Order: sequence, then structure tokens, then C-alpha cells
Amino acid sequence: MQTARTKDELRSLLAPLRGGRVVLVPTMGALHAGHASLLRQARELAGPKGSVVASVFLNPVQFDNAGDLQTYPQTPEDDLALCRECGVDVVFMPTPEVMYCPDRSISLEETYLSGVLCGARRPGHFAGVCLVVNKLFNLVQPTDAVFGKKDYQQLAILRRMVRDLDIPVVLHGAEIVREADGLALSSRNTRLTPEQRAEAPRIHRTLMLAKVDYESGTDPADVCRMAETQLSAIPGANVDYVELVDAENLHELTDLKRPAVLAVAVYFGTVRLIDNIEVQR
Ligand code: PAF
Repeated sequence: MQTARTKDELRSLLAPLRGGRVVLVPTMGALHAGHASLLRQARELAGPKGSVVASVFLNPVQFDNAGDLQTYPQTPEDDLALCRECGVDVVFMPTPEVMYCPDRSISLEETYLSGVLCGARRPGHFAGVCLVVNKLFNLVQPTDAVFGKKDYQQLAILRRMVRDLDIPVVLHGAEIVREADGLALSSRNTRLTPEQRAEAPRIHRTLMLAKVDYESGTDPADVCRMAETQLSAIPGANVDYVELVDAENLHELTDLKRPAVLAVAVYFGTVRLIDNIEVQR
């Protein structure tokens, strides 16, 4: 495994790999078993002849909250070890100064899918995600890229970016990886207190009950109301949103036969957890 810290280093490490399948896994570091599953999926997609590239970059441009950025965990040595273990060929680990020009003046805004769910509550977040992922696509020029479905809205927006900008890359969504008690793996979980950590799996339990309710015919608005009541009853939890939306356009579910997703965001103190479940009648 080789590590690039500058764009020139990255380009020269990637030059001999061109022509084969190159699978990119963008991350913000603080890697956990959820990232390991993305990296293993990438390794499988790449096959023995292809290459896996992981980026580890805490992208300041996508943080709408300075406190969240400052407290975001950073574990570069462990990240490199996990990448090696998962068969990554090249890790790109730039600093913000390497990644962005100080007077950068181009932004990249998706304007339909970003106006709902997390996008409605985190202004500028998805523009920051689109910008950095676009830059990574330009730098790495991957044939494929793997993103987790925990960030469901992010994946939908990136699919649209690739579609609307004709970026020659195939995106793959990876299933959510959970702790044994159901809590979706997230780098932010390490910031939960033991009490919050003990209560947080109730988010997934609520989603599973809601899925049964919806799929057995309960009205979407009632499903959301019941889920919100259950989430609000979790000690220490503050519900940001509970929404059942069309799985593709992330807007109101007008055709109940279409695939849908129930997405939630819940605060425990200052830690914001997101989770979702796909549903289909
Ligand atoms: O999902 C993430 O970790 C980030 O949003 C991503 C895609 C690596 C962009 O910084």
C-alpha cells in the first residue's frame, strides 16, 4: 500500500494503474467497520487486476457547524492500518491546504434533492460534499466509487451529480453496517456518553417497527408520527426529523407502490446521529 499526501504524489502513484478498474472509496477518516465493509466491497469490485484507492480527508467545506468539525475524531495511523488490512492499494491523505486553493471561488450546488431531510437542516453541507467528491473524481479518475447507504441522501445527490455532469464513474451503494445491538456504525458514535450509547440502538428498533407498520398498510403520516413519538421518548434524545420519502427523489411519497425510505436524524447532546430504512409495499 502506498500513501500520497499531495496531488502530484497521487497522480504519479495512479499513473501505472490507469487502464484497469480503479475503485475509489472517499472517507473522512476515523475509519470503523462500516468503512472496512466499503473498502472490502471496493476490493471485490476491483478484482485482482484492478486497484482500490481510499481518500482520508476531513473536508472542512462540508461542515455547517464549527464545533462538529473541531470534535470530529481523527485517527490517521489506525486509518492507514485498516486500509492496509482491507487491501487498499493507494491512500490519499491531503491536508485542507493541499486540497483547496485559498482563493477558491467555484461552488457546486445540487438544488433539488438537497432541499430536504439533512440538506434542509445543514445549509451548505451537500454543496461541500459535491465539491470535494467532484475534486476527488477529477484527481483519481476512478471507474467506480463506493458510498455507504447510511448517508442515503448523500448517495442520491452524488448519483445525480454524476448523471447531470456526465462524470464517467459508476457509483455503488453499500448496505448499512450495524453494531450487534442495531446502532448504525458512525465515526460520531465515539462521542456518545455511555448512557447515550446505551439508548441509541432504540433508533434502529424504531425504524424496524415503522417498516412493519408501513408495509402492512399504515398511512405514511401516521408511521412518521408514531416513530417520532417513540424516538422522543428515548432519554436524552432530541429528534431533528423523521420523514418517509420517495427513495429516488427524496420528496413526498405520492405513489405508495414506489420504493421509499424512512430517514431520521436524532441529537444526543451535540452528537447528531442519522439512520434510515428502505421500505416497500
Ligand atoms: O460520507 C463521508 O464520509 C463524506 O461526506 C465524504 C463522501 C467522504 C465526502 O467528504
